[in-house]
Amino acid sequence: MNPLRISVIGGGYWGKKVVREILDIGRTTREVELKSLVDTSPASLAACREEFGDSIEYGWDYQSLATDPSLSGVHIATPNSTHFEVASTFLRQGKNVLVEKPLTLKMDEAYELIRLARENKCVLCVGHIHRFNNGVRELRRVLSDGLIGDPYYLLMRWTALMNPQLQREVITDLAPHPFDICNYVLGSWPEKVSCKARGYRTRQNEEVAFIAAEHKGSLLAHIELSWLDRDKRREVTVVGSEGNAHLDCVNQKLFLQKSSVLEEIPVSPSNTLREEITHFAECIRNNGNSTPFTNHSDGLLGARVVALLEAARESMYNDRAIQVQLPIIPEISVK
Ligand SMILES: NC(=O)c1ccc[n+]([C@@H]2O[C@H](COP(=O)([O-])OP(=O)(O)OC[C@H]3O[C@@H](n4cnc5c(N)ncnc54)[C@H](O)[C@@H]3O)[C@@H](O)[C@H]2O)c1
Repeated sequence: MNPLRISVIGGGYWGKKVVREILDIGRTTREVELKSLVDTSPASLAACREEFGDSIEYGWDYQSLATDPSLSGVHIATPNSTHFEVASTFLRQGKNVLVEKPLTLKMDEAYELIRLARENKCVLCVGHIHRFNNGVRELRRVLSDGLIGDPYYLLMRWTALMNPQLQREVITDLAPHPFDICNYVLGSWPEKVSCKARGYRTRQNEEVAFIAAEHKGSLLAHIELSWLDRDKRREVTVVGSEGNAHLDCVNQKLFLQKSSVLEEIPVSPSNTLREEITHFAECIRNNGNSTPFTNHSDGLLGARVVALLEAARESMYNDRAIQVQLPIIPEISVK
C-alpha cells in the first residue's frame, strides 16, 4: 500500500503540530507521507524550516499545489477567515480536504464546501478533534448506559489566558469544540441559543462569552468561553438525575459522582490529532472503493456547528435568544 501524500497548508501554531504528527505516522505506519508544507508568510516558513530542517518540501503558493496529480489531500490549518477560500480551491480540483475548525465563518460557505465535495467526489473532513478523544467517547457511553440517570444540564468550560487577539474572537475560536462535544455525547443539537459576550482588552473582539444552548425537553448546556481566565480548562460536567459526570478533556480523566463518592472511570487516553489524521486517510482510501465507511467528522457536522456559531453571534448582537436553523442536506449521513 502506497502512503497517501498529504500537504499541510498553514505552518503556524497548529499546523506545526499537524506536521509533527504526519511525520510520525509516516515513520511508524507508512500510511501517510508529508508531501509539503505551504505557508504564505516567510517568517512562518523560516520557523518551520528551523524545526523540521530541509528534509521536507516547503512552498508559499497553495494554488499551484492544487493541480499537482501526486497530491492525495490537504490538511488546512490557516486562519479561520481563509478556510473557505483555501478549501474550495482544493475541492474544485478534486482534492480531499481536512479543514481545521470551524469549517467556515458563514453558513453559505459551509454549504458550498459540502456541495463542491459531493460534486467532485472528494472527502471533506472538519477538525472536530474531540470526536477522537477517548475521554469524550467514554462520557458518551456513560450517558447512553444511563449511569447518571437522565441528564438535566451540562456545564462546559473552555478557558485560558491568551494575549489580546486583534484578528480573532472567542466564540468562533473556542465554541466549536463544546458545541461539537455536546452533540456527540447527547446525540442532539440545540433548538435555541442565547449568548452574552464582551471584549475587555480588545473591545471590537469578544474575549469572554456565556452561551446557553437549549435542547429538546428541558436539557440545557451552559458554555463558558474565556481568554481572560488564568486557569486553563477544557472541562465538561453533566448533572443528571442520579449523579454527575465530570470530564477533563485534556487529560482525558473522567469521574462519576453519586452522593459523596467520587469514582474514576478508567480511560486510556488517545492521541486525538493522530487519530483525526489517520481517520482522514481512511476516509480517502475508502472513498475510492465501495466499502461503506462512516466519516466521523464530515462537512455536514462542520456546517451544523457553523450554524450554532452564527446563532450565538446573532443572539449577542440582537440581545435575544435565537431559534437555530440547522442545515439539512439529503443523502449525507447525519450524526
Ligand atoms: N483543533 C484544535 O484544537 C485547534 C487548535 C488550535 C488551532 N486550531 C485551528 O487551526 C487553524 C490555525 O490556527 P493557528 O493557531 O495555528 O494560527 P496561526 O496564526 O498560528 O497560524 C496560521 C498560519 O497560516 C498561515 N497562512 C495564512 N493565510 C494563509 C494562506 N492563505 N495560505 C497558506 N498559509 C496561510 C499564516 O502565515 C500562519 O503561519 C485555525 O483554524 C484554528 O481554529 C485548531
